[in-house]
Amino acid sequence: STVSKYVIGNWKMQARYDQGIQLARDIASGLASLPPLPVQTVICPSYTQLHGVHTVLEKDRLTPQQLALGAQDCYPTPSGPFTGDISAQMLADLGVKYVILGHSERRQNHQETDAIVRQKVKAATAAGLVPVVCVGEHLTERNEGRAASVLAQQIEGSLTRDFKGLLAYEPVWAIGSGVMPSRKELVHKIRLIQALLPMHLMADDVDTPILYGGSVTSAQALPILSVPGLGGVLVGSASLQAKSFLEIIKAAA
Ligand code: G3H
Repeated sequence: STVSKYVIGNWKMQARYDQGIQLARDIASGLASLPPLPVQTVICPSYTQLHGVHTVLEKDRLTPQQLALGAQDCYPTPSGPFTGDISAQMLADLGVKYVILGHSERRQNHQETDAIVRQKVKAATAAGLVPVVCVGEHLTERNEGRAASVLAQQIEGSLTRDFKGLLAYEPVWAIGSGVMPSRKELVHKIRLIQALLPMHLMADDVDTPILYGGSVTSAQALPILSVPGLGGVLVGSASLQAKSFLEIIKAAA
Protein backbone atom coordinates (compact mmCIF):
# COMPACT_ATOMS: atom_id res chain seq x y z
CA SER A 1 0.00 0.00 0.00
CA THR A 2 1.04 3.63 -0.39
CA VAL A 3 0.18 4.43 3.21
CA SER A 4 3.23 5.12 5.28
CA LYS A 5 1.64 6.71 8.35
CA TYR A 6 -1.70 6.69 10.12
CA VAL A 7 -3.26 9.74 11.70
CA ILE A 8 -6.29 8.81 13.78
CA GLY A 9 -8.50 11.39 15.46
CA ASN A 10 -10.37 10.25 18.55
CA TRP A 11 -13.09 12.78 19.30
CA LYS A 12 -14.12 10.96 22.50
CA MET A 13 -17.41 12.31 24.00
CA GLN A 14 -16.58 15.84 23.00
CA ALA A 15 -18.28 17.24 19.95
CA ARG A 16 -22.01 17.96 19.81
CA TYR A 17 -23.75 16.71 16.68
CA ASP A 18 -23.52 19.88 14.58
CA GLN A 19 -19.96 20.60 15.65
CA GLY A 20 -18.92 17.11 14.60
CA ILE A 21 -20.52 17.45 11.19
CA GLN A 22 -18.81 20.81 10.66
CA LEU A 23 -15.49 19.40 11.84
CA ALA A 24 -15.80 16.49 9.41
CA ARG A 25 -16.62 18.92 6.59
CA ASP A 26 -13.61 21.09 7.39
CA ILE A 27 -11.26 18.11 7.60
CA ALA A 28 -12.61 16.63 4.37
CA SER A 29 -12.37 19.87 2.43
CA GLY A 30 -8.92 20.59 3.87
CA LEU A 31 -7.72 17.17 2.71
CA ALA A 32 -9.41 17.52 -0.67
CA SER A 33 -7.44 20.73 -1.29
CA LEU A 34 -4.11 18.93 -0.75
CA PRO A 35 -2.39 16.62 -3.21
CA PRO A 36 -2.93 12.93 -2.28
CA LEU A 37 -0.73 12.19 0.74
CA PRO A 38 0.75 8.83 1.77
CA VAL A 39 -1.26 9.08 4.99
CA GLN A 40 -4.28 7.12 6.12
CA THR A 41 -6.44 9.54 8.07
CA VAL A 42 -9.23 8.19 10.27
CA ILE A 43 -11.76 10.19 12.28
CA CYS A 44 -13.59 8.55 15.18
CA PRO A 45 -16.72 10.47 16.21
CA SER A 46 -19.26 9.35 18.80
CA TYR A 47 -21.79 6.70 17.78
CA THR A 48 -24.50 9.33 17.31
CA GLN A 49 -22.42 11.20 14.73
CA LEU A 50 -21.24 8.23 12.67
CA HIS A 51 -23.99 8.25 10.07
CA GLY A 52 -23.93 12.03 9.66
CA VAL A 53 -20.14 12.11 9.33
CA HIS A 54 -20.24 9.22 6.87
CA THR A 55 -22.66 11.20 4.71
CA VAL A 56 -20.20 14.13 4.73
CA LEU A 57 -17.27 11.90 3.75
CA GLU A 58 -19.22 10.36 0.88
CA LYS A 59 -19.93 13.80 -0.60
CA ASP A 60 -16.27 14.71 -0.95
CA ARG A 61 -14.21 13.00 -3.61
CA LEU A 62 -11.95 11.51 -0.99
CA THR A 63 -11.46 7.76 -1.00
CA PRO A 64 -11.61 5.81 2.27
CA GLN A 65 -7.85 5.36 1.73
CA GLN A 66 -7.45 9.08 2.31
CA LEU A 67 -10.09 9.67 4.98
CA ALA A 68 -11.91 6.84 6.70
CA LEU A 69 -14.51 6.58 9.42
CA GLY A 70 -13.74 4.95 12.76
CA ALA A 71 -15.65 4.20 15.94
CA GLN A 72 -14.45 4.38 19.54
CA ASP A 73 -15.62 0.98 20.77
CA CYS A 74 -17.81 -1.99 19.90
CA TYR A 75 -19.54 -4.84 21.74
CA PRO A 76 -17.64 -8.14 22.08
CA THR A 77 -20.35 -10.35 20.58
CA PRO A 78 -22.06 -10.05 17.16
CA SER A 79 -25.69 -9.70 18.29
CA GLY A 80 -28.09 -10.52 21.08
CA PRO A 81 -30.23 -9.10 23.88
CA PHE A 82 -27.74 -6.44 25.01
CA THR A 83 -29.69 -3.28 25.68
CA GLY A 84 -27.83 -0.12 24.78
CA ASP A 85 -24.87 -1.82 23.11
CA ILE A 86 -23.61 -1.54 19.54
CA SER A 87 -22.08 -4.43 17.59
CA ALA A 88 -19.17 -4.28 15.17
CA GLN A 89 -21.49 -5.34 12.34
CA MET A 90 -23.81 -2.41 13.10
CA LEU A 91 -20.82 -0.10 12.79
CA ALA A 92 -19.76 -1.69 9.49
CA ASP A 93 -23.33 -1.12 8.22
CA LEU A 94 -22.74 2.64 8.69
CA GLY A 95 -19.53 2.71 6.67
CA VAL A 96 -17.19 2.40 9.64
CA LYS A 97 -13.78 0.90 8.72
CA TYR A 98 -11.74 1.21 11.93
CA VAL A 99 -12.55 0.78 15.60
CA ILE A 100 -10.54 1.87 18.64
CA LEU A 101 -10.53 -0.89 21.27
CA GLY A 102 -9.22 -1.02 24.82
CA HIS A 103 -8.64 2.71 25.18
CA SER A 104 -7.46 3.41 28.73
CA GLU A 105 -10.61 5.45 29.36
CA ARG A 106 -12.66 2.33 28.64
CA ARG A 107 -10.33 0.06 30.59
CA GLN A 108 -10.70 2.45 33.53
CA ASN A 109 -14.34 3.61 33.31
CA HIS A 110 -15.88 0.39 32.00
CA GLN A 111 -13.64 -2.18 33.67
CA GLU A 112 -12.48 -3.55 30.33
CA THR A 113 -9.97 -6.31 30.86
CA ASP A 114 -7.46 -7.61 28.30
CA ALA A 115 -9.75 -10.63 27.79
CA ILE A 116 -12.71 -8.37 26.94
CA VAL A 117 -10.55 -6.33 24.57
CA ARG A 118 -9.47 -9.54 22.84
CA GLN A 119 -13.14 -10.57 22.42
CA LYS A 120 -13.81 -7.17 20.87
CA VAL A 121 -10.86 -7.61 18.52
CA LYS A 122 -12.40 -10.89 17.35
CA ALA A 123 -15.83 -9.31 16.87
CA ALA A 124 -14.41 -6.32 14.99
CA THR A 125 -12.28 -8.50 12.73
CA ALA A 126 -15.22 -10.79 11.96
CA ALA A 127 -17.22 -7.73 10.91
CA GLY A 128 -14.42 -6.58 8.58
CA LEU A 129 -13.29 -3.67 10.75
CA VAL A 130 -9.65 -2.82 11.42
CA PRO A 131 -9.06 -2.85 15.20
CA VAL A 132 -6.91 -0.12 16.74
CA VAL A 133 -5.91 -1.63 20.08
CA CYS A 134 -4.64 0.69 22.81
CA VAL A 135 -2.08 -0.29 25.42
CA GLY A 136 -0.10 1.79 27.88
CA GLU A 137 1.17 1.88 31.41
CA HIS A 138 0.00 4.06 34.31
CA LEU A 139 2.43 6.56 35.85
CA THR A 140 3.02 4.49 38.99
CA GLU A 141 3.73 1.41 36.88
CA ARG A 142 6.23 3.41 34.86
CA ASN A 143 7.89 4.92 37.92
CA GLU A 144 8.16 1.51 39.56
CA GLY A 145 9.92 0.20 36.44
CA ARG A 146 7.02 -2.05 35.49
CA ALA A 147 6.14 -0.54 32.09
CA ALA A 148 7.71 -3.38 30.10
CA SER A 149 5.84 -6.13 31.94
CA VAL A 150 2.55 -4.20 31.82
CA LEU A 151 2.91 -3.73 28.05
CA ALA A 152 3.85 -7.40 27.57
CA GLN A 153 0.78 -8.48 29.52
CA GLN A 154 -1.57 -6.12 27.67
CA ILE A 155 -0.23 -7.15 24.28
CA GLU A 156 -0.46 -10.85 25.09
CA GLY A 157 -3.92 -10.53 26.62
CA SER A 158 -5.58 -8.08 24.24
CA LEU A 159 -4.40 -9.27 20.84
CA THR A 160 -5.43 -12.43 19.05
CA ARG A 161 -2.57 -14.59 17.73
CA ASP A 162 -3.67 -13.80 14.15
CA PHE A 163 -4.15 -10.09 14.91
CA LYS A 164 -4.49 -7.87 11.85
CA GLY A 165 -4.80 -4.28 12.90
CA LEU A 166 -3.00 -1.38 14.52
CA LEU A 167 -1.51 -1.04 17.97
CA ALA A 168 -1.57 2.32 19.73
CA TYR A 169 0.88 2.93 22.55
CA GLU A 170 -0.76 5.44 24.87
CA PRO A 171 0.99 5.92 28.20
CA VAL A 172 -1.96 6.72 30.49
CA TRP A 173 -0.05 9.58 32.13
CA ALA A 174 0.40 11.29 28.74
CA ILE A 175 -3.29 11.31 27.83
CA GLY A 176 -4.86 14.76 28.08
CA SER A 177 -2.06 15.89 30.39
CA GLY A 178 0.12 17.92 28.06
CA VAL A 179 2.99 15.70 29.24
CA MET A 180 4.76 13.41 26.80
CA PRO A 181 7.51 10.84 27.07
CA SER A 182 10.90 12.21 26.07
CA ARG A 183 12.13 11.21 22.64
CA LYS A 184 14.59 8.83 24.25
CA GLU A 185 11.85 7.13 26.25
CA LEU A 186 9.52 6.91 23.25
CA VAL A 187 12.25 5.42 21.05
CA HIS A 188 12.87 2.84 23.77
CA LYS A 189 9.17 2.01 24.23
CA ILE A 190 8.54 1.61 20.51
CA ARG A 191 11.55 -0.70 20.26
CA LEU A 192 10.23 -2.68 23.20
CA ILE A 193 6.79 -3.06 21.60
CA GLN A 194 8.41 -4.05 18.29
CA ALA A 195 10.21 -6.80 20.17
CA LEU A 196 7.11 -7.93 22.09
CA LEU A 197 4.76 -8.25 19.10
CA PRO A 198 6.47 -11.22 17.38
CA MET A 199 6.42 -13.11 20.70
CA HIS A 200 2.62 -13.06 20.69
CA LEU A 201 1.62 -13.00 17.05
CA MET A 202 1.68 -15.99 14.74
CA ALA A 203 2.79 -14.17 11.60
CA ASP A 204 6.43 -14.80 10.61
CA ASP A 205 6.64 -11.25 9.45
CA VAL A 206 4.88 -8.97 11.92
CA ASP A 207 3.99 -5.71 10.21
CA THR A 208 1.56 -4.29 12.77
CA PRO A 209 1.81 -0.49 12.65
CA ILE A 210 2.59 0.98 16.08
CA LEU A 211 1.06 4.39 16.79
CA TYR A 212 1.72 6.81 19.61
CA GLY A 213 -1.03 8.64 21.48
CA GLY A 214 -1.02 11.12 24.35
CA SER A 215 -0.96 14.93 24.15
CA VAL A 216 0.03 14.99 20.47
CA THR A 217 -0.15 18.57 19.16
CA SER A 218 0.58 19.99 15.73
CA ALA A 219 3.83 21.43 17.13
CA GLN A 220 4.96 18.04 18.46
CA ALA A 221 3.77 15.94 15.53
CA LEU A 222 6.91 16.20 13.41
CA PRO A 223 9.43 15.13 16.09
CA ILE A 224 7.12 12.33 17.27
CA LEU A 225 6.51 10.99 13.78
CA SER A 226 10.26 10.83 13.19
CA VAL A 227 10.70 8.28 15.99
CA PRO A 228 12.10 5.16 14.29
CA GLY A 229 9.46 2.51 13.63
CA LEU A 230 6.52 4.71 14.54
CA GLY A 231 3.55 4.09 12.26
CA GLY A 232 1.52 7.16 13.14
CA VAL A 233 -0.36 8.98 15.87
CA LEU A 234 -3.64 8.67 17.74
CA VAL A 235 -4.78 12.19 18.50
CA GLY A 236 -7.35 13.33 21.08
CA SER A 237 -7.77 17.06 21.78
CA ALA A 238 -5.84 18.27 18.74
CA SER A 239 -8.22 16.30 16.48
CA LEU A 240 -11.15 18.50 17.55
CA GLN A 241 -9.87 21.48 15.55
CA ALA A 242 -9.62 21.04 11.78
CA LYS A 243 -6.58 23.33 11.61
CA SER A 244 -4.43 21.47 14.11
CA PHE A 245 -5.57 18.06 12.86
CA LEU A 246 -4.73 18.97 9.25
CA GLU A 247 -1.31 20.21 10.38
CA ILE A 248 -0.67 16.84 12.02
CA ILE A 249 -1.73 15.05 8.82
CA LYS A 250 0.68 17.21 6.82
CA ALA A 251 3.45 16.46 9.31
CA ALA A 252 2.83 12.74 8.72
CA ALA A 253 3.16 13.04 4.94
O1 G3H B 1 -7.04 8.49 21.92
C1 G3H B 1 -6.42 9.54 22.11
C2 G3H B 1 -5.62 9.73 23.29
O2 G3H B 1 -6.28 9.32 24.44
C3 G3H B 1 -4.90 11.04 23.39
O3 G3H B 1 -5.69 12.09 23.84
O4 G3H B 1 -4.37 13.78 22.56
O5 G3H B 1 -6.15 14.49 24.16
O6 G3H B 1 -4.00 13.49 24.99
P1 G3H B 1 -5.02 13.57 23.91
